[in-house]
Amino acid sequence: MSAISLKDISKSYGPVEVISSIDLDIEKGEFVVFVGPSGCGKSTLLRMIAGLEGINSGTLSIDGTVANDIAPARRGIAMVFQSYALYPHMSVYENLAFSLRIAHVDKAEIDQRVRKAAAMLQLDPYLKRRPRELSGGQRQRVAIGRAIVREAKVFLFDEPLSNLDAALRVATRIEIAKLKERLPGTTMIYVTHDQVEAMTLADRIVVLNAGRIEQVGRPVELYEAPANLFVAGFIGSPAMNLLPCSLRHDGDRSFVTLAGAGAGAIAFGSGGRTDKEAGTLGVRPESLRLSTPEQALLTGTVDLVEHLGEVTILYLDVGSEQPVLAKFDKTKAFNRGDIVSLTADAAELHAFDAAGAALQRLA
Ligand SMILES: Nc1ncnc2c1ncn2[C@@H]1O[C@H](COP(=O)(O)OP(=O)(O)O)[C@@H](O)[C@H]1O
Ligand SMILES: [Mg+2]
Repeated sequence: MSAISLKDISKSYGPVEVISSIDLDIEKGEFVVFVGPSGCGKSTLLRMIAGLEGINSGTLSIDGTVANDIAPARRGIAMVFQSYALYPHMSVYENLAFSLRIAHVDKAEIDQRVRKAAAMLQLDPYLKRRPRELSGGQRQRVAIGRAIVREAKVFLFDEPLSNLDAALRVATRIEIAKLKERLPGTTMIYVTHDQVEAMTLADRIVVLNAGRIEQVGRPVELYEAPANLFVAGFIGSPAMNLLPCSLRHDGDRSFVTLAGAGAGAIAFGSGGRTDKEAGTLGVRPESLRLSTPEQALLTGTVDLVEHLGEVTILYLDVGSEQPVLAKFDKTKAFNRGDIVSLTADAAELHAFDAAGAALQRLA
């Protein structure tokens, strides 16, 4: 039985559908990340699970029980917001204890739970402080602590790190990763538009786009086998190079030829089609390596060299609209104007049909 199950869930604001027919099962103890561009419906979906937004159609089940009409407070769910939502006039201790006092939990039990949560989040030295006497990262930890003391079955996080500066964001991300280890039975759903957070925290990632699920999978699955052009372009940094190509489907094979390139055709599985279409060939910047001109998949002129310390990124003009990016380790020296031939292993190439769906790779 799934901890949380969404069946054909939709949501509209007036005539505008913002969540379209979502199906998703989340297991107990799983850490699931919803990722997608701003406005794609991540917060709306999370708030529907929390009970803060109504569901227009479909079924939400929590632990096997239909929950569409269960009041938010009775769902066993705790939500951590981007804005912390702490009580400014209360100490950290009182902020942590508040929901338990409301629920008439006895004093000794409250004290024990508050101290346990504070220890888990390294907040012990700050229990007497007010929120304004804390850094952003400490405030966010108090907000997370409030979810912990409630011993909720499910934690929902809505972009909890987006108000923190870069260094604090990394530190707090690591705290959340540790929290996941310490609370293995707690199901967590985490919303972010940051794919690094998604890749590092998630057991499974749900990629959302315009209110629909584009793909669900483990982080490496999405990276290695994106199901479509949207996921290919969204997961990975710098993004996958996407090059126009022609596709010829012929029985059990599809042949990809890059426009203008000298390379021979590359074969993918066709799924039994026999037609031709314009498609897209995808190759990640880190998959490209230097080759002889004869073996090149791509040949281009170096337009820009970015030295990032541990890596060098080349921007190549290959005669198409977008530059091709290639990532090398720090020892490679290039100059603007160099002509560079590049190739990649066939296993690291991706092909997409005219509709943007990934073609099956041949092993
Ligand atoms: N209360 C509301 N009324 C009308 N439209 C809304 C409301 N809340 C969100 N929306 C719209 O729904 C879409 C999804 O919003 P949201 O879930 O906040 O996206 P995300 O969290 O992925 O950035 C957006 O187009 C947004 O403008
Ligand atoms: Mg949002």
